[in-house]
Amino acid sequence: MNIAIIGSGGDGAGMNECLYTLCLKLKKHNIVLFNYGFQGIIDEKIANIDLKTLKKERKKGGIVIKSSRSSEFMTEKGFNKCIQNLKKYNIDLLIVMGGNGSMQGTIKINRAGINCIFIPTTIDNDIAYSDYSIGYSTAINNAVDFVQKVDTSMKSFDRICIYEVMGRHCPDLAVSVSKIVNACYTFTATSTKQELLNAVKNELKTNLAPIIILQENTVNIDELKMFLQENLKDRDVKSAVVGYVQRGGYASGEDLKMSKGFAGKVASLVKNGIYNVMAIYKNGKFEQIELSKIKK
Ligand code: F6P
Repeated sequence: MNIAIIGSGGDGAGMNECLYTLCLKLKKHNIVLFNYGFQGIIDEKIANIDLKTLKKERKKGGIVIKSSRSSEFMTEKGFNKCIQNLKKYNIDLLIVMGGNGSMQGTIKINRAGINCIFIPTTIDNDIAYSDYSIGYSTAINNAVDFVQKVDTSMKSFDRICIYEVMGRHCPDLAVSVSKIVNACYTFTATSTKQELLNAVKNELKTNLAPIIILQENTVNIDELKMFLQENLKDRDVKSAVVGYVQRGGYASGEDLKMSKGFAGKVASLVKNGIYNVMAIYKNGKFEQIELSKIKK
């Protein structure tokens, strides 16, 4: 069988381990790795990378076969080119590692008659039907590490600090980081500035350097900082955006374990001739859901 594999959308640590394990377990098949996700299929960017190199890179974050957010794939012309190239290379099965947008792309390719299997990989942990997506644990660890490092300085000056974490429109990352660093407030899409101010005032009774975690895409961090500063004139308010460090470095033990688990599940699906599904992790078990059953 000719099996194509791509990584698409935001990278998550663990994708390399997942890719390596997939290539290892599926080695009796002809594996075609495309660089740059869907865009790479459109541009026929085949990755020239062997199992030995993948093995060396397996624990690192990022994705060795590179990713992209392809606007061309979203056009009719680009999409058709993608399908045309999958047929040109006689691809019997396309395995996509990606987040929400890539999942929708995979469903569309599947509807066009190409066999597909999707693996949830995103630090946002926002893939419906799966309790876990590869990259989430490393992102938590990295964000916690960042906050804890900055916090030692904040504490020395009794400063309030707001930390913005990623997650796109999903609060999971912000909430998890918040719990671990003992933040006094997690600002999410349902929060109000007044609620935050009340929480900070209350925290200041016992802690002069409160931590606030802000979920990205909810409110502008500078605006929030100004609001707190105006209302707490005798205090010093700082802010920091955690940013891409959340996707960087080496994969956590949890992500390495989950990546192997997802790859093992996909290999057994292939062995049993089960395609057109998303591999999921539900209630402590690896399972699958048909792509046709996934609601937008
Ligand atoms: O989806 C993963 C993610 O890291 C989000 O948390 C973040 O909003 C976005 O990607 C950043 O996108 P880009 O890598 O295109 O800047």
